Amino acid sequence: MSNSVSPTGRLALVTGASSGIGAAFARQLAADGYDLIAVGRRRDRLDALAAELSGIRVRAVVADLATDAGVETVARICAGEPLSMLVNNAGVAHYMPFAELPADKASELLHVKVVAPTLLSRAAVPGMIARGKGAIINVAGMLAFSGPAPIDRLPLRRAVYIGTLAHIVAMSQALNEELKADGLQVQVLLPGVVATEFHTRQGLDLTAVPRMSASDVVIASLRGLALGEVLCAPGVERADLFDAIAQAGLAAFGAQSPQLAERYR
Ligand SMILES: NC(=O)c1ccc[n+]([C@@H]2O[C@H](COP(=O)([O-])OP(=O)(O)OC[C@H]3O[C@@H](n4cnc5c(N)ncnc54)[C@H](OP(=O)(O)O)[C@@H]3O)[C@@H](O)[C@H]2O)c1
Repeated sequence: MSNSVSPTGRLALVTGASSGIGAAFARQLAADGYDLIAVGRRRDRLDALAAELSGIRVRAVVADLATDAGVETVARICAGEPLSMLVNNAGVAHYMPFAELPADKASELLHVKVVAPTLLSRAAVPGMIARGKGAIINVAGMLAFSGPAPIDRLPLRRAVYIGTLAHIVAMSQALNEELKADGLQVQVLLPGVVATEFHTRQGLDLTAVPRMSASDVVIASLRGLALGEVLCAPGVERADLFDAIAQAGLAAFGAQSPQLAERYR
């Protein structure tokens, strides 16, 4: 694919397009007429996806977003191509007790779920601002809100993973506020449990747990974008719950003062 504007006028870059939610994004966006840049490590999966999609142009980019070089490769593409949409979807979880989580696994997680979406967004945004339009979808998860949950309710140890999701939530909310006057939209997507390879790749069998399909997650995300939702939670009926979280957070933020609170005196 050259640096020219795509014939359809719409071009999306999807990270983690080689399986699961990312592949579902690629299929839906292709059906909607987007040309695609599909990023992942598994070349065979990306090539198979490209072969399956017809009527649009697909460029497969093999990059490891756990490495600085991989992030730089994709960031250069984000800065150089006229992206209408960036989907920061790639992810791993590494559920594990914190004291046993190998440092390299923690680092991989932070790179793929924090460094990559941050730097790819940073690379894509100036061009989107110049064009006066663009959308960024950052895939987090409902676990972003699970920090205070007692361990017996969510026994899988997940502190670093949910920390990365919380970063994505806060960054997306703040970025959407910052960029909406420039005509950009930023969404944070909050799937629950989804039927993909995500858990099996960690050696977990969640087939007994009711799971949403990846295609339903994508339907919600794209519909949520059209609705102007910043937080898109495909499986949560009551969207007002998120308004309540936002209001409570802003109330706490606004309640601070330079005086030492009474309970600490
Ligand atoms: N499944 C769920 O229940 C669930 C729930 C909430 C949120 N999510 C989020 O949804 C996103 C997609 O996950 P999924 O469920 O679709 O799982 P998946 O089928 O395992 O897909 C993960 C994707 O991320 C890519 N990826 C992982 N590490 C990468 C790296 N170092 N560099 C480049 N690409 C990398 C994988 O591609 P390669 O292996 O080819 O590199 C794959 O395409 C994740 O960010 C996850 O946090 C999933």
